[in-house]
Amino acid sequence: MIYRYPLADDTVTKDDREALAQWILEDPSPRFTMGPLVRQYEEKWSNWLGRRYSVSCNSGSSANLLMYYALLRSSRLKNKKVIVPSAAWVTTIAPAIQLGFEPIMCDADYDTWALNRRHLRQLLEEHHPGTVTLVQVLGVPHNMGDLMELKNKYGFFLLEDSCAAMGSSYHGKKVGTFGDMASMSTYYGHQFSTIEGGFVSTDDKDLSDMLVMLRSHGWVAHLDPETRAGMLKKYEIEDIGTNFVFCEPGFNFRLTDLQAFIGMRQLNRMNWLVERRSENHRLYKQLLGSRFITQAYDDKTTVCSIHFCALAANYEERNYIIKMLENESIETRPFTSGNQGLQPYWFREYGKFSSSMANKLYHCGFFLPNHPYLKKEDIEFICSVATKAVQDFRKRGK
Ligand SMILES: Cc1ncc(COP(=O)(O)O)c(C=O)c1O
Repeated sequence: MIYRYPLADDTVTKDDREALAQWILEDPSPRFTMGPLVRQYEEKWSNWLGRRYSVSCNSGSSANLLMYYALLRSSRLKNKKVIVPSAAWVTTIAPAIQLGFEPIMCDADYDTWALNRRHLRQLLEEHHPGTVTLVQVLGVPHNMGDLMELKNKYGFFLLEDSCAAMGSSYHGKKVGTFGDMASMSTYYGHQFSTIEGGFVSTDDKDLSDMLVMLRSHGWVAHLDPETRAGMLKKYEIEDIGTNFVFCEPGFNFRLTDLQAFIGMRQLNRMNWLVERRSENHRLYKQLLGSRFITQAYDDKTTVCSIHFCALAANYEERNYIIKMLENESIETRPFTSGNQGLQPYWFREYGKFSSSMANKLYHCGFFLPNHPYLKKEDIEFICSVATKAVQDFRKRGK
């Protein structure tokens, strides 16, 4: 179905596609994998974000898997317990299960919908986990001041899933620069897109080297020369110029040069992309904030949201609003997974995780479009439909 107001729109422009086509035709050495462009793209992203190292990969989900596995292989974990958020994407949590971590679910925060601070403190006291995974939910930054204090106090590794939050910042510091490692997704419709793609960014050289190896078969081929030489020395392997030395049991999660090409072009306009989405988010909040529960944040943060999400009063009201939005060709959907603890993959293994806020997201959340091409009038119209729907529903209920 084609919507008049789709949830997402393509940030890869016609000009980008034409430039890509021309480059493909004219490149004298068309190998298109792990060429210089991928490295340039990673550097460009690191510079924009403000981190020392970024390792690109083929999706945000792969980025999450790489983060967990890099931690595991680094042998720096004090234990395999990990606190995971209930408001998350499935692949925020799936790697923990796949790799034999012991995931412990944390309730959603009333303001940011990320980790509930009271519940998190309680779980930290009880379990002393080696790792905490945070999702910057839909581009609204978590209260990072509090979380970094807890990190210092309890000494856990922080994995920051910023897959849906690229471009947001908390008190001037960009999301994706807080965790020991942070993941991003450049899937279609995200803040910028390589169609499929992702990054892990970090300031830790050892973790970055581990990520570089794990991303590509576990071999030494893409390490910098000094690190590569150090690895060969460590394992007492003579350097005969071959790259076929596999130090880790890795994956193949590489990004292609074609994706790096379009990614770099969009990074040139990243500030504009962020500004447009943030403006849209502020307008939504202004128009709907008095009728629906929406994510709370203070004015010192930038919200570069992927979609705007609002909470209806109850499940029936939410479903009615969704129907009315659909009638006006406005694409919407329930908060994608709401509470991961109510998804079969989780409750089959760990039992249902039920709490008032996580369940509210699951039963009452609905998405509204946000992308850079939305105009003020579009948002005003979308909000008027949502507002009328809720008024009608509440009137009928009386
Ligand atoms: C919070 C979060 N983590 C991970 C992902 C997975 O990213 P990808 O679709 O690139 O695999 C998403 C996707 O939107 C997400 O929202």
